[in-house]
Amino acid sequence: MERTLVLVKPDAVQRGLIGEVLLRLERTGLKIIALKMLRMDRDMAGQHYGIHQGKAFFEGLVQFITSGPLVAAVLEGPGAVEVVRKEMGETDPVKALPGSIRGDLALSIGRNIVHGSDSSENARKEISLFFKHGEILDYERQIDGWIRES
Ligand code: RTP
Ligand code: MG
Repeated sequence: MERTLVLVKPDAVQRGLIGEVLLRLERTGLKIIALKMLRMDRDMAGQHYGIHQGKAFFEGLVQFITSGPLVAAVLEGPGAVEVVRKEMGETDPVKALPGSIRGDLALSIGRNIVHGSDSSENARKEISLFFKHGEILDYERQIDGWIRES
């Protein structure tokens, strides 16, 4: 089953939106199989956002993502990567549609509330950066038969 990494970014933690963000993602039917609060250091931020190294916004991005605690989660379910990206909305909250997390809750590209992996392959790498094997829980929910067919 597909998995994705979600970060409830430091702006959302400061604004009291942890529950709101997780609620919106959880109610799609996706299953939370790992969850923790932590503060990223520069080294970890460089690894997580390594693809953006050298870009004009990189330094600001690292400063922001390390500026306070965030919540990291692994969500699992059919199409988890795409479903989370759809719920998040576009990177720039000004362009994100109403109904999406960024469209409803944010205004600025550098304070956009939430991260979600952009591919299954990147999800695997990102999950291993944030979670050890034993921190990811394999469990069934009684309700899963009402969310997916098998
Ligand atoms: P994320 O990785 O945080 O989930 O966001 P994303 O996939 O929607 O966007 P991405 O292109 O991966 O960019 C990562 C974060 O960098 C900041 N950014 N700023 N000023 C800019 O042009 C710019 N472009 C990107 C955003 O905070 C974005 O979430
Ligand atoms: Mg990204």
